[in-house]
Parts: sequence; C-alpha cells; structure tokens
Amino acid sequence: MLNGLEASAALAALEWQYEMGVDEAISETPINRYEQPQALPKMGASSNIKAVAMPKALPVQESAPEVARLMAARCNDLDALRNAIGVFDHCALKKGARNLVFGDGNPAARVMIIGEAPGRDEDLQGLPFVGRAGQLLDKMFAAIGLSRRGETPEDALYITNVMPWRPPQNRDPSHDEIAMMMPFLERHIALVKPDILVLMGNTACSAVLGKKGITRLRGHWTEAFGKPVLPMFHPAALLRDGLKKRDAWADLLALKSKLDG
Ligand code: URA
Repeated sequence: MLNGLEASAALAALEWQYEMGVDEAISETPINRYEQPQALPKMGASSNIKAVAMPKALPVQESAPEVARLMAARCNDLDALRNAIGVFDHCALKKGARNLVFGDGNPAARVMIIGEAPGRDEDLQGLPFVGRAGQLLDKMFAAIGLSRRGETPEDALYITNVMPWRPPQNRDPSHDEIAMMMPFLERHIALVKPDILVLMGNTACSAVLGKKGITRLRGHWTEAFGKPVLPMFHPAALLRDGLKKRDAWADLLALKSKLDG
C-alpha cells in the first residue's frame, strides 16, 4: 500500500513518462522494481538446482477459458458483458492496456463487424476502429449506406474485436489469448443477434472460423454460430496495399446484395 507521499511521487513519475511520450509498457506484466528480491537458494557446485530460462509470457491457467465461459453465460445484456470482461483478470494484455475496448455502434444493427484488437488510438479512446484503419472502415461501409451512427437496423453497424485489450507493440494476439476471450466474443454475438457477421482479416477468421488465409477466404460466404459470415481484408491491409481495394469493394457489394436480398 502506498502512503500519500509515495502515491504522489509515483503519479508524478507516471505523468512525466506520459509527457515524454511513453505510451505502452515494454513487458506484458508490470514489474514492481521496489519489491525486495526474495532470498534465492545458493547455486554452488553441490547444488542440483539448474538455471532455467524464464518463459517470455506467463503460462496461461488452464481454467481461464472455462472461467470466461461461466462469466459470459451469466450476462444477459451488453452492459453486464462489458462489466464481466472488465473484471476478468486472466488475460495479461489487460495489465498493459489503458482502456477496455468493448464495442461501438448500434447493437440493433443487422451487420456486426469483428476486427482483431485495439491499436494505440483505440486503446486511448476505448473505442474500436478509431485510428487510420478505422476511418477507412467507416468510409468503406458508408459507401454501401452503413454507419456505426445509423439509427435503424438497416443502416447501422455494430463493431467489436476478438480482443478487448491492446497487445503490446500491436503484436498478433496469441492462440491462448484468443481462446480465453472467445467465450466473451460468442456471448457478444449472441446478445447483439446480428443477421450477418463480417470478419476483418486473419485473426478474426482464425478465432471465428478456425482458419487463416484471408486472401483465399475473403469474399466467400460461410457460416458460423448459425449466421452468414463474410471474411474481408482488414482495412489496415488495404492501407498497406491499395490494390486490395478492388476486392474489398467487390465484398462490400456482395454484402449489400445479401442485405437487400
Ligand atoms: N484494428 C482492429 O482490428 N481493431 C481495431 O479496433 C483497430 C484496428
């Protein structure tokens, strides 16, 4: 427990780091450098203790996906689900994130978009797809008359991500991280009840369909959770390679005709 003086010094140090442009933790779990090191047994010639390399990430508790499943099952609305994710402490990404990024848009929308994970802007604002890729996503869907600010199910979008916390250095979420958060995503979909799911990029495809290879998957309607699913290129991929925009436009038209049909 910090006393008043230590707390204000810690806060001042944090503010200073923020001023200096520090915007993420280097390691995934915070280290208390003031903690007294525990006495280690001596490793002399007679010792049979071997030096072992520390694993990079904390091992995932086997029960984490099961805990998530039990917690998600109890949530009867989106507020309850947001709160449940907020108190779920098994995912190390939470410790390095500024904000939980839950979802945005109109939950009555016919179309639910699933992205990968928050980036820097999303982590700062606590909303999905608000950075450059998000602005492109908004423009793409506006071209077929859909927006997260749409007021009717027909012209609205609802947006979430596979992961609600930003991974450090925007790395891909690991298999274990995805597995433990999947029950929350499934419940999210069940509560929003969209007519159609759009999967943005490989992480969303591997989480929902168990498959990667977005270049092959995109544009091909498939099914998950009893709903039609359309995989598309992630807008960040379109920013890197403008030639992919033609395929993305074809996919948007396919989505529009499915909605109209
Ligand atoms: N990329 C994503 O997949 N999701 C976001 O929220 C932002 C960028």
